[in-house]
Amino acid sequence: MDHMKHGRIVLLEGIHPSAETRLEKTGMEIVRVDGSLGKGDLESVLHEATMVGIRSRTQLDDELIRKVPNLQAIGCFCIGTNQVDLEAAAGLGIPVFNAPFSNTRSVAELTLAEIVMLMRRIPQRSADMHSGKWRKSAAGSREVRGRTLGIVGYGHIGSQLSILAEAIGMKVIYHDHISKLPLGNAHPARDLEELLSTADVVSLHVPATPATRNMIDAGRLAMMKPEALLINNSRGNVVEIDSLVSALKNGRLGGAAIDVFPEEPRSGDSAFETPLAGLENVLLTPHIGGNTLEAQASIADEVGEKMVRFACEGSTGTAVNLPTVDLPSRGSGQHRILHFHRNVPGVLGSMHSALAGLGVNINAEYLRSQDDLSYVILDVDPADEGAIRSELEKIPETIRMRIIVD
Ligand code: NAI
Repeated sequence: MDHMKHGRIVLLEGIHPSAETRLEKTGMEIVRVDGSLGKGDLESVLHEATMVGIRSRTQLDDELIRKVPNLQAIGCFCIGTNQVDLEAAAGLGIPVFNAPFSNTRSVAELTLAEIVMLMRRIPQRSADMHSGKWRKSAAGSREVRGRTLGIVGYGHIGSQLSILAEAIGMKVIYHDHISKLPLGNAHPARDLEELLSTADVVSLHVPATPATRNMIDAGRLAMMKPEALLINNSRGNVVEIDSLVSALKNGRLGGAAIDVFPEEPRSGDSAFETPLAGLENVLLTPHIGGNTLEAQASIADEVGEKMVRFACEGSTGTAVNLPTVDLPSRGSGQHRILHFHRNVPGVLGSMHSALAGLGVNINAEYLRSQDDLSYVILDVDPADEGAIRSELEKIPETIRMRIIVD
């Protein structure tokens, strides 16, 4: 019997209901908790959990993970996973899933809107109206049609933005550190410097890495066209904020939209200060580029589906902390053995011998290792499940195993 089928999924922090619809396929009981919980309450709610779904506020540390005896998988219904002790989970053969690309469209749409707003100098016009000033003027206000957008980082978001921007008549150039297929009429700039000196709007969509840290510094800002616009909806450390402030104050740049900051408050409703506050034609947003209701639903679908695939097929595809193993669905009547073990020579050989000793025939096998952990999926002809379990559990390197049967 696959005890996951009779397990319990605990969903915390008001995860979007789409997740529940997906997870029903596992046949497990689903328990919903609306808010996040402190350690004591969390421990008692999770005690019987087979899988848990959290967002960013629930902390799953080493101690807590070890206290949930049947825990088999963790779904982070968000982008980040640093609220979970990934190494501790990996050491117990517990995959952690997230949804890194579910909010791509939301970021691309916001960026497009910001381009139009900054080109029309709307931040100032709107602030004037809020303070009772009717300043009707075309000064500095431009259409975006025909202007050049320079996208730095042509990945999921950058390439989606490329399509949207062309649809409203912009020319698109991009720079990426690896060769990327251009979409539509977009084309790669020779290098970052050429992009900066050609684009009317520069939009950053790179990850936070040592190479992108302060990528846009005083020298690079000086390469931008006079009155060009800068948008950073990627990560806070990509732009040197003090240099940007100078470039905006001295009129070198025409405006900026900034959603991400080198230091951001940990919780909502916190006070926040930035030297960009109060500058003209600057849009500031609190890291909400990807925060839309659609993105929440899409995160629920993506992570929910990954948890279902792990529960029903043993797939760890795109888990952030474990070797990723994906086998097609098993043939009808087949048993599927999922085995996490320490990555040392000879374990697979021991498994083969144990199964051969029981007269069990292997039909499919896929193994991957990462650091000191290995995960193997084996499809075998139907056999005595209890006997397989007790033989394989005798292998000392075994961390955790499960057998899926119909
Ligand atoms: P992605 O991984 O699909 O694309 C990143 C691209 O940047 C890749 O094509 C990569 O080759 C390129 N790149 C990496 N290092 C580079 C370098 N040194 N020079 C030039 N290109 C480089 O990532 P995705 O999903 O498009 O996200 C982009 C950024 O947006 C990430 O930093 C992510 O954290 C951020 N983000 C921000 C959100 C928000 O709410 N503001 C929401 C979602 C993502």
